[in-house]
Amino acid sequence: MAFDLIQQRRQEEKKQKFKQDLGIAFIISAITILLLAAAVCFAIYKTNKNNHHNSVAAHNQEAPPPPPPKPKTTQGVVKSVCANTDYKKTCEESILKEVKTKNNATATPMDILRASLVATFKVVDDVTRQAKGLEFKTPMTKAALNDCLVLLNDGRDEVNSSIASVRGARVGRMRTAKAELDNWLSAVISYQQTCLDGFPEVADKEKVRKILERVKMFGSNALSVASQVSAALTEAETSNGSQRKLLVFNWMNNNHYRRILKSNGLKFTPNVTVAKDKTGNFSTINEALGAMPKKFKGRYVIYVREGVYYENVVVAKDMKNVTLYGDGSQKTIITGSKNFVDGVTTFETATFVAIGARFMAQSLGFRNTAGPEKHQAVALRVQSDRSIFVNCRIEGYESTLYVQAHRQFYRNCHITGTVDFIFGDAAAMFQNCMINLRKPLESQQNVVTAQGRAERRETTGIVLQKCKILADKKLEPEKAKVKSFLGRPWKEYSRTIVMESEIGDVIQPEGWKEWNGDLGLKTLFYAEYNNKGAGASTKDRVKWGGYKTLKRDDVLKFTVGPFLQAEDWLKAADVPVRFGMFS
Ligand SMILES: *[C@@H]1O[C@H](CO)[C@@H](O)[C@H](O)[C@H]1NC(C)=O
Ligand SMILES: *[C@@H]1O[C@H](CO)[C@@H](O)[C@H](O)[C@H]1NC(C)=O
Ligand SMILES: *[C@@H]1O[C@H](CO)[C@@H](O)[C@H](O)[C@H]1NC(C)=O
Ligand SMILES: *[C@@H]1O[C@H](CO)[C@@H](O)[C@H](O)[C@H]1NC(C)=O
Ligand SMILES: *[C@@H]1O[C@H](CO)[C@@H](O)[C@H](O)[C@H]1NC(C)=O
Ligand SMILES: *[C@@H]1O[C@H](CO)[C@@H](O)[C@H](O)[C@H]1NC(C)=O
Repeated sequence: MAFDLIQQRRQEEKKQKFKQDLGIAFIISAITILLLAAAVCFAIYKTNKNNHHNSVAAHNQEAPPPPPPKPKTTQGVVKSVCANTDYKKTCEESILKEVKTKNNATATPMDILRASLVATFKVVDDVTRQAKGLEFKTPMTKAALNDCLVLLNDGRDEVNSSIASVRGARVGRMRTAKAELDNWLSAVISYQQTCLDGFPEVADKEKVRKILERVKMFGSNALSVASQVSAALTEAETSNGSQRKLLVFNWMNNNHYRRILKSNGLKFTPNVTVAKDKTGNFSTINEALGAMPKKFKGRYVIYVREGVYYENVVVAKDMKNVTLYGDGSQKTIITGSKNFVDGVTTFETATFVAIGARFMAQSLGFRNTAGPEKHQAVALRVQSDRSIFVNCRIEGYESTLYVQAHRQFYRNCHITGTVDFIFGDAAAMFQNCMINLRKPLESQQNVVTAQGRAERRETTGIVLQKCKILADKKLEPEKAKVKSFLGRPWKEYSRTIVMESEIGDVIQPEGWKEWNGDLGLKTLFYAEYNNKGAGASTKDRVKWGGYKTLKRDDVLKFTVGPFLQAEDWLKAADVPVRFGMFS
């Protein structure tokens, strides 16, 4: 879903026309294949294509004035699918190189989407090879390159998954497939950014950027192609009667708002127990994860008894469906103190890292105790898709919570920090959370969010709904001396929405802060909706082009259902959640 309103307006007309063209193209292709397969009547096939040639040619604005009848070709379809991308030439060339059809039949939109993903996969592979050839001298840059290779490998897996997801997708399944594609391809783009962010020196960063640029380009193109193809297929599907206007925005309808509130004291049956006093199966979380069976059905539930665990924990990529629960966020605490000042990349400072999909944490505390003078020091980094955090406490100073990639849901959590303390490029929703600003260093200003969306087609953003944004006890008496903001644009298309929340007067009247001059001020997407509290007035807010005033319908797109495609996975997890708005 492209939420950019400006973009949307600009492209509306083009898109309408395009959908018609592509819809026709799709139907023609289908007919064509059928006819060929049956080996009937080649003449009709030709006539058919010729009849419809004009519409596509006209769209491309390349038809000579009296259009000589020319058969509609794969080139023509590719051209129209690529027409909306930001890197048209690359799009056309790379797709034409990969697209394969039987008997040279005109490619269908699905063939083209597949080709676009295969091209992206090959680019990630190629870029990985190039990156492996780079050489750096300092420990920090070596570490950064190492992070990069890990991230590129993750990106490669994500593109591979997206290829698998469209391979099986019939036309009717495109809508589901599209959401997954958005999710995976956005992650690929965020990984390449994360990679670049690891290099402290501008010169090194540029060297790597040159190589990685193609990942962003191809990712962006693939996202665009996916949305074109999906729009066209959905159109073809729905214009044929029965299924008109399917479920996508079904939550927009007031009657469909859901409110599933279960008791918070979920009762899990643990598979294993971790306890410091050796009364459990293990005395560290890492041991429990290490002992996880390679194959199992359902979830692997780890109960961590009360205690402070000094561990750096990674729930690795192959550790899927892990549930970790404790005795309370101030009783079961996982803590560490890695930090940037001591020479660790921000990415690697996290005390706890969740990568394996569908990770769930409940009643746990995550801490980084490095303190403000150590700068970036992450308590929790989350890359896990469909991850859930309930009744958790995430404590740190600068860069406390790294919402790195994919879809994440935080409910009834308590998050503390100073500078950019909720940051990253995931689609992350915080519902009913307490967000406390702490006292920073003398020279610092507090910033709650630094969302890192680098590409306008990414479906990522940070949403705070029904949260409280307040100074903590220590900052409260001194809050007049410290400037605090809701967010700043870490990347050009930074997107953050604060809604139905309480904003304390700790937040400056202008609300938001620049990152670096006018970087992203026009392209970012910041919005506040229906907030209350002494700091909630938008009267004196920044006047940037990207700062939006939204109507209810616009805001609904950022509620749990549409934004995280969360209905199935949150219901299955049986956690408290509010789909839609609170009021
Ligand atoms: C497909 O087209 C190419 C180039 O026009 C031609 O060389 C090839 O023989 C064709 N293949 C089939 C199966 O028609
Ligand atoms: C891509 O994913 C499939 C499973 O969907 C797997 O069998 C295959 O090995 C993967 N390919 C690569 C190159 O990772
Ligand atoms: C459209 O609907 C008709 C009858 O309901 C069906 O026979 C036809 O295959 C459908 N066409 C498409 C493109 O789905
Ligand atoms: C975990 O425990 C549940 C029962 O509570 C059981 O069904 C499941 O197989 C166990 N999983 C593993 C990986 O042992
Ligand atoms: C964990 O400990 C419990 C209780 O002592 C025991 O029943 C269970 O079999 C142990 N599980 C594992 C995986 O060791
Ligand atoms: C993880 O959970 C999902 C959803 O319940 C399920 O489809 C998948 O098979 C599970 N994976 C494993 C390894 O059990």
